Amino acid sequence: MNITDIQNIFTEAEEKISQASDSNELDEIKHFYLGRKGKMAQVIKQIPELPEEKRPLAGKESNIIKGKIQSLLSDRTQQLKTGQEKTQKIDTSLPAVKRTLGGRHPITIVIDDICKIFEHIGFTLVEGPEIETDYYNFKALNIPEGHPARDNFATFYLPKDNMLLRSQTSPVQIRIMKDVEPPLRILSPGKVFRPDNLDASHSFMFHQIEGLVVDKKTNFTHLKASLSYFVKNFFGRDVTMRFRPHYFPFTEPSAEVDIACIICGGEGCSVCSRTGWLEILGAGMVHPNVLKEVGIEESIFQGYAFGLGIERIAMLKYGITDIRMFFNNDMRFLKQFS
Ligand code: PHE
Repeated sequence: MNITDIQNIFTEAEEKISQASDSNELDEIKHFYLGRKGKMAQVIKQIPELPEEKRPLAGKESNIIKGKIQSLLSDRTQQLKTGQEKTQKIDTSLPAVKRTLGGRHPITIVIDDICKIFEHIGFTLVEGPEIETDYYNFKALNIPEGHPARDNFATFYLPKDNMLLRSQTSPVQIRIMKDVEPPLRILSPGKVFRPDNLDASHSFMFHQIEGLVVDKKTNFTHLKASLSYFVKNFFGRDVTMRFRPHYFPFTEPSAEVDIACIICGGEGCSVCSRTGWLEILGAGMVHPNVLKEVGIEESIFQGYAFGLGIERIAMLKYGITDIRMFFNNDMRFLKQFS
C-alpha cells in the first residue's frame, strides 16, 4: 500500500458519487468508503505496516481523502435535492395556483374618505401611539383618578408603568397641543381598545378619528360649520343633523351629533331604535383645564374637538348589521368594497 493507492481510492469514489442518482445510492457509497469496515478504514489499518518514514504522510493523506469524500457526498446530496425541486417546479401539467387578490378594507376606505373631506378644509393628518399612559388617556384630559367618567371609558390596563391601550383617540389632542404651537387643525385616525364583549355592535378593538382645532377666536359656530360640512359631504346634501347637549370631561360645552336615520329617513326603524336619529360623533369646545394642562393661554386661544367612531359610520354607510364582519377576514365580504 502506498500514497498512490490512497489517491486511486479517491478517484474511484469521486466517479461513483458523481454518477449516484439518489440518496440510497449515496448512503451505500458512504458505507463502502467511509464505513467502519470501509475502504478508508482498511487503508488506515495498514499504515503501521509501512516503513516508519512513510507513515506520517500516509496518515495525513488518508485524513484529507476522507474529508474530501465526505464533502463530495454532501454536495451531491444537495444537488439531487434541488434537482428534484426543479423538476417539480416545471411540471407544466399541474393547474396554476389560484391567488385571491386583496383590496382595501372597508374601514380603510371610510377612514380615507373622511380624511379627504376634512383635509379639504385645512386639516392635517397626524398619528398617535396605541399604547398610552394614564396621563395622556385620562389625567391630561381632565379625567383625574377616581373620576366617574373613567367608567365610560372601560380600559385595558397593561401590567407596567401606568401603561394602557388607549380607549379613545383623544390622547392625541394632548400630544399635539404639547408639541406644536397653535394655530392647530389636525385629524388623527387610529385604533382604540375597550374590554367590551364581542357582539353585533361591540368590539374590543375599533377605530376612531379625532379632530382638533385650536386658534384665536374659535367658537362653537366653527365646530358646527366643520361638522356639517363633513356630514353633507359624507352622507349627502339632504341628510339633516342635530347637536344634542352631552357631557365629556375634556370639552365644555359638549354635544353629541345625530343624523336623521339614513335607513328609514327619520320615520323610526330598528336601526335607529325607533327614534329617527343616529348618533355619529361626540364633540365640544376644548375644556379650559385641558388648555391649562398643555400650557395654551386660554384668553388668546380656544379650541374645538370631535371624535367619530369609524365602524359605526361604515356600518351605516354600507348597511352592515354586524361589526364582527369587519374583522373575520372573509374575502367574500371584504371583496365587495374595493
Ligand atoms: N373621545 C370621545 C369618545 O371616545 C369622543 C370625543 C372626542 C368627544 C373629542 C369630544 C371631543 O367617546
